[in-house]
Amino acid sequence: MCGIVGYVGPRSAQDTVIDGLRRLEYRGYDSAGVAVVSDGRLLVEKRAGKLANLEKVLDDAPLPTAHTGIGHTRWATHGPPNDVNAHPHTGGARRVALVHNGIIENFVELRERIEADDHVLLSDTDTEIVAHLVELQVQSGVDLTTAMQRVCQQLDGAFTLVAVDSEEPDKVVAARCNSPLVVGLGEGENFLGSDVAAFIEFTREALELGQDQIVVITREGVEVMDFWGRPADAKQFHVDWDLSAAEKDGHDWFMRKEIFEQPRAVADSLIGRRTARGQLQLDEMRLADEEIRELDKIIIIACGTSFYAGMVAKYAIEHWTRTPVEVELASEFRYRDPIVDNTTLVVAISQSGETADTLQAIRHAREQRAKVLAICNTNGSSIPRESDAVIYTHAGPEIGVASTKGFLTQLVACYLLALYIAQVKGTRFGDEIDEIMEQLEEIPAHIDTVLADADQVYELAREHVSTSSVLFLGRHAGYPVALEGALKLKELAYIHAEGFAAGELKHGPIALIDEGLPVLCVVPPKGRDQLHGKMLSGIQEVRARGARTICLAEEGDTSIEPYADVLLRLPKVPVLLQPLVAIIPLQLFACELATALGHDVDQPRNLAKSVTVE
Ligand code: F6R
Repeated sequence: MCGIVGYVGPRSAQDTVIDGLRRLEYRGYDSAGVAVVSDGRLLVEKRAGKLANLEKVLDDAPLPTAHTGIGHTRWATHGPPNDVNAHPHTGGARRVALVHNGIIENFVELRERIEADDHVLLSDTDTEIVAHLVELQVQSGVDLTTAMQRVCQQLDGAFTLVAVDSEEPDKVVAARCNSPLVVGLGEGENFLGSDVAAFIEFTREALELGQDQIVVITREGVEVMDFWGRPADAKQFHVDWDLSAAEKDGHDWFMRKEIFEQPRAVADSLIGRRTARGQLQLDEMRLADEEIRELDKIIIIACGTSFYAGMVAKYAIEHWTRTPVEVELASEFRYRDPIVDNTTLVVAISQSGETADTLQAIRHAREQRAKVLAICNTNGSSIPRESDAVIYTHAGPEIGVASTKGFLTQLVACYLLALYIAQVKGTRFGDEIDEIMEQLEEIPAHIDTVLADADQVYELAREHVSTSSVLFLGRHAGYPVALEGALKLKELAYIHAEGFAAGELKHGPIALIDEGLPVLCVVPPKGRDQLHGKMLSGIQEVRARGARTICLAEEGDTSIEPYADVLLRLPKVPVLLQPLVAIIPLQLFACELATALGHDVDQPRNLAKSVTVE
């Protein structure tokens, strides 16, 4: 939530900051702003709305040449998204400019203190108060670094702050507490960003900061310290994707590009997982075999789409490892009194690695001695840093706000984790790892087959532009797919959509069925269990009440034909792996329907990519 950029070096600060903001705009797009220091003067330009509004103003009237600058793209928390509330904010004397991501929880008290001192605040934001506090400090004679330390010591909440002072023109100072910030290391120049996308065009060497740290960047170097000025360590890492991964590559939306990248993302997530002796290896997993053998419960915590990946994981982990699994929304888990101890493994699933609820939930779990394993797509982010073990997904950068390849690679990581636990615990399925891995390795080709039929889904989506409600039904591992399909449609097309477990229909939801209501049904593969037959009954029941049934069923399943108004074919895969292929048409459906409705698919209204506030 909110994208933050800082730059010092020989390039144009305005252009470099705007480039960075363009790549971070997915984090928030309510307003945008930039501040530069030029010839000892502070210049600020900011506008409500998308970054394009600010760019237009700067194209017409560029800021004077400057080589130090900061920028911000906002997802509004305090105060509506207007020009005044846009960041950067300045102190009363307009000497310091500051941008902020997060929420300052003690802002009321700080505001009273500032106003009692005759400071006039122009905006509704908590950020402006911090700008005043920092400016008060520099005016008292300390440098910007000390000022930032002293102010951070007074703040409660979550924040990344980045500031410039017109009297120290070659320096940007930033602070990090429970909100993301990474440093880009250049030659004779340095960068700050909410994530590496901000500077990937210029450098792929980066520094991962810890919590409660301050960083000072100049042309010559980078200095990291804690809030009390004591030197602190930061870990350097190399970003292994390049600029092209952050570009649309001929697609109309990042999301569509990311849907089509899924075969590669799944394949990358499986590379190097099997040893020559047929054993599964998870290199980055730092849990000892003994610790895994002792586990008697797994709790998966996550939000949104990642939560649905966790729901799928429950079916696989319990089936393959015989270890009980609970799946819980991070926002619920963190405020209750869960029964966990050192034989509990908490699995935190997060694409961004910065989701505030998930981060707080893992802290809550660790306080009670649970072991925490993160499944994450973002190197250097907070959730893996604060976990005992991590499985990184290999989706590459996910820029579309709605998660697609992030979800699929999370599923792969969950299957790998389940198989690994089965191997270590020596369950019956431990012997079938090779076979299941082979099935997983066939998934990229299966996804290609589904994507080859994208036009059929697009046409179907365009038929539904006037639809006001869509239901999704699934059973077993297909139930979370139904929930995820509904979420995609809600967030992109702004159409009412709900996912149900098909077995629950008669307990209430069937009352919603009306003539012509589209119901998308994820049909389980035919197997020895009764899932397929039970699903068919559910489909017949909604159809008998007038629903238009759109069925996703495996190749060769003819029994579904009499009950499907529309039939979309899926490749034959085992029921536990079916989510990997079944979600693809639902992603395509939501993307195309939103496009047909004229919505911004990459930046849906009211949303932001990583939810770093509660
Ligand atoms: C929906 C979506 C969100 C995220 C959720 C968790 O398309 O992307 O529901 O899944 O905000 O985000 P992460 O995985 O970054 O913790």
